[in-house]
Amino acid sequence: MRVTINQIKEMKSRGEKITMLTAYDYVTARIVDEAGVPLILVGDSLGMVVLGFESTIPVKIEEMLHHAKAVVRGAKKALVIGDMPFMTYHVSVEDALRNAARFIQDAGCQAVKLEGGVTVAEKVRRIVDCGIPVMGHIGLTPQSIHQFGGHKIQGKTPEAARRLLEDALALEKAGAFAVVLETVPAPLAALITRKIGIPTIGIGAGAGCDGQVQVINDILGSYTDFVPKHAKQYAKLVDIMSTAVAEYHKEVKAGEFPTDAQSFPMDESVLDGLD
Ligand code: KIV
Repeated sequence: MRVTINQIKEMKSRGEKITMLTAYDYVTARIVDEAGVPLILVGDSLGMVVLGFESTIPVKIEEMLHHAKAVVRGAKKALVIGDMPFMTYHVSVEDALRNAARFIQDAGCQAVKLEGGVTVAEKVRRIVDCGIPVMGHIGLTPQSIHQFGGHKIQGKTPEAARRLLEDALALEKAGAFAVVLETVPAPLAALITRKIGIPTIGIGAGAGCDGQVQVINDILGSYTDFVPKHAKQYAKLVDIMSTAVAEYHKEVKAGEFPTDAQSFPMDESVLDGLD
């Protein structure tokens, strides 16, 4: 049975921590799913950690859907959330509804995520009214990186902290089932977590959130162009991959790969008369 948004909300009520990770392909989704992680986000971080862009802004919905389909094929239990990319929900409610539906209908996701609070609350309400679960995302919202002027901690002044709380409350009222808090001081994130009834999922927002999300490449050490302060590397895959590739390259050059073990024998009499 696949995880439901009600089960995620009940985890908050029980005080049980919620784990969420990103995935962008079938194999990774299977690993995350089999580890029992209940929420998989096909994040638009795809643009940076898979496609090599400098930000999430260039990511197109077709690219998101392509990867979301692969993740859905790999995730049998986890709830898969498709991240709505830049400008797919900003222009109009109609746009937001149509694009949210593509993640559910075409890609097979069970929910969508979009960035913003008060300003997107009406769109969240309308998407939820169509039966599509929505996860909010406030704080450092990467699609607005040029507006923020960089990866800056959000909610540091009294007005900014109040605005973030209002954003979270607006998302809850609009029917979001959970909200990501990104790069928010830990005490503010803990306060928002106490003040709203839906789960908060933190990334760089301290241990007081109901759950945590990380970009999988950050915790596996497979994307090293930019390692955020909030990420802990549980492995250093980039080193393992570099060593393996260098060794393969060396062995092919030296005629050491392949050996008989990687080759297919045949009765050489078959070749008589061909040479
Ligand atoms: O795109 C993404 O991976 C995200 C997470 C950082 C929450 O939005």
